[in-house]
Amino acid sequence: MGVLSRAKSYLRSSNLALAVWLHGYDFMRTLKYMDWRRQPADIYWQKSSELLFQYHKLEKGMCIGGKPRFFGIDALRATCVLMREWQALGLSMDDPIYVGAVETLRGYKARLAVTPAPDNLKAEVDALLEERLAQTQPVPSLSTPIPFDPVSEATAEALSSLLLHRRSVRDFADRLVERERVERAFQMAQLSPSACNRQPWRVHLYSDRAKIAELLRLQNGNGGFGHTVPLLAVISTDSRSFFNATERAQGNLDAGLFLMSFLLALQAQSIASCCLNWCVTPTMDRRAHAAGNIPDHESIVTYLAIGYAKDDIYVPRSPRRAALSALVYH
Ligand SMILES: Cc1cc2nc3c(=O)[nH]c(=O)nc-3n(C[C@H](O)[C@H](O)[C@H](O)COP(=O)(O)O)c2cc1C
Repeated sequence: MGVLSRAKSYLRSSNLALAVWLHGYDFMRTLKYMDWRRQPADIYWQKSSELLFQYHKLEKGMCIGGKPRFFGIDALRATCVLMREWQALGLSMDDPIYVGAVETLRGYKARLAVTPAPDNLKAEVDALLEERLAQTQPVPSLSTPIPFDPVSEATAEALSSLLLHRRSVRDFADRLVERERVERAFQMAQLSPSACNRQPWRVHLYSDRAKIAELLRLQNGNGGFGHTVPLLAVISTDSRSFFNATERAQGNLDAGLFLMSFLLALQAQSIASCCLNWCVTPTMDRRAHAAGNIPDHESIVTYLAIGYAKDDIYVPRSPRRAALSALVYH
């Protein structure tokens, strides 16, 4: 056994060494990509994340209860700087994220009628809004804030049924999964919440059998059924959505929320799925990035097998813990 293989074998057998190896890998990636002060080559993702992050403060500030008061001067300034940069970079001003910024400023301006800016800020606020809103037409479908629309009892029933019937399927029919259906599910899942609405998830889809097999060879939980998977998704998060390392856990959390919605949205269209864990060494992670052509600034969160279930198959009951046993009242 060579020195390298012996070192790798030691790393795998010692939890301390393994933890150092894995955290070291994550640490380097966090250092490299999770920092808005370093401009990435693909400016759109970073700029749109930062813009969302800033104008979301204005958006939500307009919806806080209690006595209305003037707020948000710093967020307004930052939003306007970013919008200027956006324009200077030649990014599309029809992009929903940019239009969302414009509409947020429009909502903020309307609110000034109720909560005017203090005298020392009035001229600045007016000038900023004037500059950014000039020559833009309102887009009513993206106006903000909007009235809260509570759900009906019927919705709860539908969700309950969906949750009850969703099962991890491990035997897929040899049938194509229509692209439109997957896209529809993706659109539904995009409504998932995320920190400051940055939506850091990405979904890479593979339908080529050889490519699926190559990717599945790097994953340890698809034994016996991987060969039946007609469509494989690799769910990742773009680390550049986050301003610095304090947000290091956010990508996984946001992607997890998206994933659950995606499973249900697929299920709602009779498409089955099975999450496939991504508990791998840096070596495997690098290989998957290469095999899947996934950029290095994206962290893989999970694989997801997608397809129609074969007829008359079985699924594990997978018992849940005693009802409410994990609910702790204080
Ligand atoms: C993050 C995650 C990773 C998973 N990884 C695997 C896996 O590698 N292989 C597998 O067969 N099932 C995997 N599963 C499926 C779980 O075993 C399954 O969700 C659980 O037993 C509950 O069963 P149900 O999904 O049918 O309700 C995974 C589920 C999650 C959420």
